[in-house]
Amino acid sequence: MDAAAPTPAFAPDSPEFAANPYPAYADLRARGRAHWYEPTRQWLIPHHADVSALLRDRRLGRTYLHRFTHEEFGRTPPPPEHEPFHTLNDHGLLDLEAPDHTRIRRLVSKAFTPRTVEGLRGYVDELAARLVGQLVADGGGDLISAVAEPLPVAVIAQMLGIPEGDRAPLRPWSAEICGMYELNPSEETARRAVTASLEFSAYLRELIAERRKEPGDDLISALIAAHDEGDRLSEQEMISTCVLLLNAGHEATVNTTGNAWRALFDHPAQLAALRADPATLLSTAVEELLRYDTPLHLFERWVLEDIEIDGVRIPRGSEVALLFGSANHDPAVFDRPDDLDLTRADNPHVSLGAGIHYCLGAPLARVELAASFGELLRQAPGLRLAAEPVRKEGFVIRGFDALQVEC
Ligand code: HEM
Repeated sequence: MDAAAPTPAFAPDSPEFAANPYPAYADLRARGRAHWYEPTRQWLIPHHADVSALLRDRRLGRTYLHRFTHEEFGRTPPPPEHEPFHTLNDHGLLDLEAPDHTRIRRLVSKAFTPRTVEGLRGYVDELAARLVGQLVADGGGDLISAVAEPLPVAVIAQMLGIPEGDRAPLRPWSAEICGMYELNPSEETARRAVTASLEFSAYLRELIAERRKEPGDDLISALIAAHDEGDRLSEQEMISTCVLLLNAGHEATVNTTGNAWRALFDHPAQLAALRADPATLLSTAVEELLRYDTPLHLFERWVLEDIEIDGVRIPRGSEVALLFGSANHDPAVFDRPDDLDLTRADNPHVSLGAGIHYCLGAPLARVELAASFGELLRQAPGLRLAAEPVRKEGFVIRGFDALQVEC
């Protein structure tokens, strides 16, 4: 960087920052390990060692409601009109802590097993081949809407047993709910998330009732049947888990695919090497592409007991923002972190999390990414960017709305 250029600032609302947050992350890392950020009243944590340790530290939690009321924790309860969103969100695995998290993760893991994922491999491969085949037949198009999005949406919907005719609203519901995960969501975002939460929950309540009457060979039926020492998922836990699986099950995969192909187009020598030998390179390439431009840049945790980072006391009641994108570019852990190196073998990226909330869908995500990348390499050897990609708003879930390619 030019020595006279201003230091890039951490500015989550700015499109320039979202377009390339990495210089600002480097600046944060150089200046310290914990930074108070007044606009969101959070502590920003940019180093890999701290992000990785705090994800595993039981003095922090995705929620505090298992130990404190809002008032005891010094927080204002959300307005009652946001209740449908919080009811849905707060009963999902991701927003629970022990003992509820342990109980529900155990039950969900009984239904979402490595065998379930292995059993889907044929479906995923065939779907990836079909979607890429269509893109090639069309001579190109939008990689996001043609491949990146329909693949994981269909896979998780198939897994849960959502009938094909019902799938159209899944992506809009999910996108409106995920709007709440950006920093400081607006009232309009909250209103849309509430409407989507109500519609999505009502749809699933009906589907679950149908599966109770007539179980099928799908994850919803398996979740209904899952029990552990007499324990079962409640109706709300089941609805929240299905929504979480549907949202988590595609949102990050869509954005990983878009970010990855943008990165490959920006590094033609790496793309050529991958095309020349996908059998050797594809598995390290998937990990490197997950690291290089991760779709999920910030995860929050509540501080349940005082902690100290680098001599800075972070008291109970605070919120920390773990900067995954920064951790993944920390030179203390990654050699030449800003280089894309598809052969990188030692790659302890945090893109899939760590600790008790480590991504439950990681094996499925890897199967999906390998399938779509593999097909794009095989069927579209001349794939190239046709226009500057259109970036999504926001940086917490960072990706593209559209990525026009030519075959
Ligand atoms: C490239 C794709 C994906 C990425 C980058 C990703 C990333 C993550 C991360 C970072 C977390 C932990 C969040 C935290 O600690 O606060 C997480 C949790 C989770 N993910 Fe994924 N994910 C991906 C795909 C999937 C898929 C395909 C599924 C399911 C079908 C899925 C289901 C889940 C679930 C259920 C959790 C919550 C686990 C828990 O709280 O115990 N994810 N994911």
